[in-house]
Amino acid sequence: MRVLRVLTSILGAGSLAAAMLAGGVTVDLATAAPAAALDDGLARTPPMGFNDWNAFGCNVDAQLIEQTADLFVSSGLKDAGYEYVNIDDCWMTHERDPETGRLVPDPGKFPDGIAAVADYVHARGLRLGIYESAGSTTCAGYPGSLGHETVDAQTFADWGVDYLKYDNCGSHGQYPDTQQGYIARYSAMRDALEATGRDIVYSLCEWGNLQPWTWGADVGHLWRTTGDIQDNWSSLKSIIRQNAPLASYAGPGGWNDPDMLEVGNGGMTDTEYRTHFGLWAMMAAPLIIGTDLREADDATMRILGNRDVIAVDQDPLGVQADVVSDADGAMVFAKPLADGDEAVALYNESDRAQTIRTTAQDVGLSGRSFLARDLWSGDERESAGTIVAHVPAHGTAMYRVSSLKGHGRYAPMTALSADTDPADGVAEPGSPTTVRARLEDAGRHSLHDATLGVTAPDGWTVAPPGPRTAGKVSSGDTFDATWSVTPPADTAPGDYDLAVTAAYRWGDEPDQRETLRTTLTVTVPTLPPSGTTPLSDVAWVSETNGWGPPEIDRSNGEQGAHDGGPITIGGVVYDKGIGAHADSEIRWFLGGGCTRLTTDVGIDDEKTTNGSVTFRILADDDVAADSGVVTVDDPAAHLAADLTGARWLTLVEDSGGDNNSDHGDWAGPLLTCD
Ligand code: GLA
Repeated sequence: MRVLRVLTSILGAGSLAAAMLAGGVTVDLATAAPAAALDDGLARTPPMGFNDWNAFGCNVDAQLIEQTADLFVSSGLKDAGYEYVNIDDCWMTHERDPETGRLVPDPGKFPDGIAAVADYVHARGLRLGIYESAGSTTCAGYPGSLGHETVDAQTFADWGVDYLKYDNCGSHGQYPDTQQGYIARYSAMRDALEATGRDIVYSLCEWGNLQPWTWGADVGHLWRTTGDIQDNWSSLKSIIRQNAPLASYAGPGGWNDPDMLEVGNGGMTDTEYRTHFGLWAMMAAPLIIGTDLREADDATMRILGNRDVIAVDQDPLGVQADVVSDADGAMVFAKPLADGDEAVALYNESDRAQTIRTTAQDVGLSGRSFLARDLWSGDERESAGTIVAHVPAHGTAMYRVSSLKGHGRYAPMTALSADTDPADGVAEPGSPTTVRARLEDAGRHSLHDATLGVTAPDGWTVAPPGPRTAGKVSSGDTFDATWSVTPPADTAPGDYDLAVTAAYRWGDEPDQRETLRTTLTVTVPTLPPSGTTPLSDVAWVSETNGWGPPEIDRSNGEQGAHDGGPITIGGVVYDKGIGAHADSEIRWFLGGGCTRLTTDVGIDDEKTTNGSVTFRILADDDVAADSGVVTVDDPAAHLAADLTGARWLTLVEDSGGDNNSDHGDWAGPLLTCD
């Protein structure tokens, strides 16, 4: 794919489609429209800037845009490369000017019009962006540009607009919902913009509906590849999955756009926001800030202003990272850079910390020794070829890797891993759990006087006590230690942190010693009581749910906790049960001591149309019962599952079709344990 992609950046994606055809890859000719990057000198690197939508929705006004422009300058973001200050939907009034047919800025929000804001932004060496839609209305219901492309493009040019985000809302008139129809609507605005003679970056926002990556390069400078991003982890994770495979379509002048940044908006951790920003850079995505910069904290500014990461995004070679490997929630991305370096990201999509690795050879570098610069800490380390890190859940380690020249001595690349055996992170009260630690030397020289140690919460026992020592760990080797860790029998259920440390010497100088630390979070679970118990009385360990949280003894109310109504299927009301919404997964720890689960399942009577769900009961990874698709018209189905010996019980609901009204009830579930 690397060869194909380099070809694409030279030849354009249209030629790529031809190359793929020649190579025997099946391409639907109807969808393989020619797409040569617009050759107008714009967006040779992914656009960087700000857009108000993610943080403000419809509450945009001139003051916000001007303050943001000032902040670009005063905070250093402008010097870091941010350029476009963009106005999203809701900037205009509901009627066009009856005389001229022109769009009219909302006088309350933009009292001096858009041109005055453009002047303000330009005076600070920045550029202004605006928003419209390729339909009869915008998404918020303001006049759309379909059929008015010429006058609107000219209006934008007259005002001094430098960037247009062109949405897909409103009815589309005579244009069919086919790729040709989309191309026609979006090309009409391309031609109108071009006819103004002004340089305007053109951002296509059709949400990835009709494979814009196959035709967008001929129409605009960037194209959304997905639906709207939300400020939460599941949205981020899903967008990364959708955008990552599209690398071959991106290049100078035409970029995949996985949507604007949520960094700083509060719905994710800083670890998740670093993953967001770092992977956008790896994927050569536009970096359009979507937070209120007037309120941004230091952590947000450090993420958005990280010049090493920005340099990866803005690298002039303009290649989107390839996915080098993808297994067990660990993805490795590699992006070749203009100076011969490779940017490498080790992305942990899973919910537990894990060690992720690749090699310099696998990311396309040759040689015997390498320098890896950690783009978040600035740390530089030498490697004999392995690029490795212990990455927290939802985190991403990011390096710029080069062949090492000269004789400088750098600290070695090492990794300290910690987990439990089995690796599910559970520690049962009063029973020993095996904790494993591993120190890996990926450097070129041996480590000396290496120690590994673990510290558990007060009152827990660790056997054998005290750190373990190894004389030497050779290049390419690991040093492993295990302990038996026991929480007191009365430990309350919950998550507990164990501190794991490694110390070693990598040279003879006093500063050639290091101590590494990592946190191993273990879960002390609730153990089900013996006898037969309503499952809703036993605390689960984890859940994911389509809408709101799963409800205990209630149906799913979709929003907060404790909403919903009595669990009811086919007119029968159940006192006990769990009200979920597909797609859902709820996990209980059984510890091997249970034998059976029986339950009714069905769509709650509060839904009368649409709902359809497949219910499955998993005993560890095995399907112990499966309802098949149950629809809103079906009576309750009865499931019985043999759980003998299972460590984990998982209740799964998959949407039977449209993920609409999937109020799946686990009605009257009874768990039997020894
Ligand atoms: C669509 C777009 C968003 C935003 C809104 C504005 O949903 O995808 O990015 O522009 O419209 O209404």
